[in-house]
Amino acid sequence: MTPTSADSAAAPVRLARIGGDGVGPEVVDAAVRVVNALCGDRIEWIEAEMGWRTFERTGRALPEATVEILEGCAGALFGAVSSPSHAVDGYHSPIVELRRRLDLYANVRPLKSGAIDAVVVRENTEGLYAGRERWEREAEVAIAERVISRRATERIVRFACGLALSRAVQRRSPARLTVVHKANVLRLSDGLFRETALDVVAGFPEIEVEEQLVDSMVYRLILEPERYDVIVAPNLYGDILSDAGAALVGGLGVVGSANCGERFCLAEPVHGSAPDIAGQGIANPVAAVSAAALLLERVGFADHAAQLDELVATCRKNVPRTPDRGGDATTEDVVAHLLAAI
Ligand code: NAI
Ligand code: MG
Repeated sequence: MTPTSADSAAAPVRLARIGGDGVGPEVVDAAVRVVNALCGDRIEWIEAEMGWRTFERTGRALPEATVEILEGCAGALFGAVSSPSHAVDGYHSPIVELRRRLDLYANVRPLKSGAIDAVVVRENTEGLYAGRERWEREAEVAIAERVISRRATERIVRFACGLALSRAVQRRSPARLTVVHKANVLRLSDGLFRETALDVVAGFPEIEVEEQLVDSMVYRLILEPERYDVIVAPNLYGDILSDAGAALVGGLGVVGSANCGERFCLAEPVHGSAPDIAGQGIANPVAAVSAAALLLERVGFADHAAQLDELVATCRKNVPRTPDRGGDATTEDVVAHLLAAI
């Protein structure tokens, strides 16, 4: 996605806010207040709904009205939705459906803490999550097909290269990219991913590229996370690397991610709806604020995004700590701290 320019004279940028279920609305509300304190009336928020409560009320987890609102926005900040652990007739995860309908093909998760400053770029539309599962031999064997296409690989690697270059400019350091695969075993599918990735990066001679097999990638990411910059991977590998990486930089309560397409970005905290603490005012809003920073960056507010990132870094290190981080601060305490720092 090409960020739209956001000079102060222009009309406000329209963004949707979707609280969802559980702590979702609490952390989205917190993040929106922080963003508004930073950006003022340059952002216009439009409220939209989806999730389990919406399903219970309307019979649709993702109402058409929400999709229409999103189509009129540059991006959205999303909290989380609750999904039942048993199959419920008519209920499908709205976030999975949105990724498909808005073609949000790149899942971006920054891993930042101390000397660690990496970002996982995960292909979000195919791979082992292509939804091609079936039974064989009277349900004695289950088969899942893994789909790797040249087209989807090209665009995810291009996206990762663009990110590596812009980070290099920001950080005044060389651009680096790690391509993750398992082409030594999955010769056709990961072979195609690898070959396509190497073709794409050949067009970016200024990027230092390395390949890493996924198993040793997990090992090395945990052992020496500070050596990585941009990491690009097929869907499942990227999912696993993202969560392993999140554990390295403070965990669920502080890490955000973004689902990006050419024209739209849906940012969300990595955590779910946390029903065990919903309504108690103690959810850690830092993950949602980190997600908001990613959203701001994608919609053309790079300076504000950087400022927000810096604030979040102080929150990760210092007081106030919510109970998930061993303290007794409330969501409100963290918001007050951020607002005071702005
Ligand atoms: P979860 O992330 O909601 O919670 C896991 C643990 O982390 C809980 O103990 C929770 O209290 C804690 N936690 C999560 N976010 C926190 C925050 N901001 N501050 C403090 N503590 C926090 O994962 P879980 O329990 O597996 O799933 C709960 C529900 O969320 C399920 O219905 C699941 O389907 C849904 N979910 C939704 C996601 C989404 O909408 N993207 C992602 C993951 C889960
Ligand atoms: Mg995951």
